[in-house]
Amino acid sequence: MTIISDKYKTVKLEEVTIWFKAAPVTAFPKDGGACVKYKDLQIAVFNFERLNTWYACQNLSPEKQEMVLSRGMIGDHKGIPMVACPLHKKTFSLENGENLNSDLDPIAVYPIKIEDDFVYVGFSE
Ligand code: FES
Repeated sequence: MTIISDKYKTVKLEEVTIWFKAAPVTAFPKDGGACVKYKDLQIAVFNFERLNTWYACQNLSPEKQEMVLSRGMIGDHKGIPMVACPLHKKTFSLENGENLNSDLDPIAVYPIKIEDDFVYVGFSE
């Protein structure tokens, strides 16, 4: 059996080999998230309009292995942009995936770029 969380690995900007064209910017709510699929991965993409920044992370919450993070509230934890899982409010940094309020494993985060009003997520395979 494959552990699904093993499929999600943080990709650093310098490791990107594929920019996946995910969706037009208008597909994402302002200051909110939506889920996109790449191969067999579910990726949560967040339009942090307040900060004029975008973030992407695995949609999988590591606590109960639920595909829910794209529906989480986004906000700020001591200056760190973060998402709160909608199920039990565990919070994760959108910059490095670290769990900010517990000792869960970090989540995978992915680079984003915006070009010609489209959102691209960076992968390394
Ligand atoms: S399933 Fe996400 S915090 Fe519990």
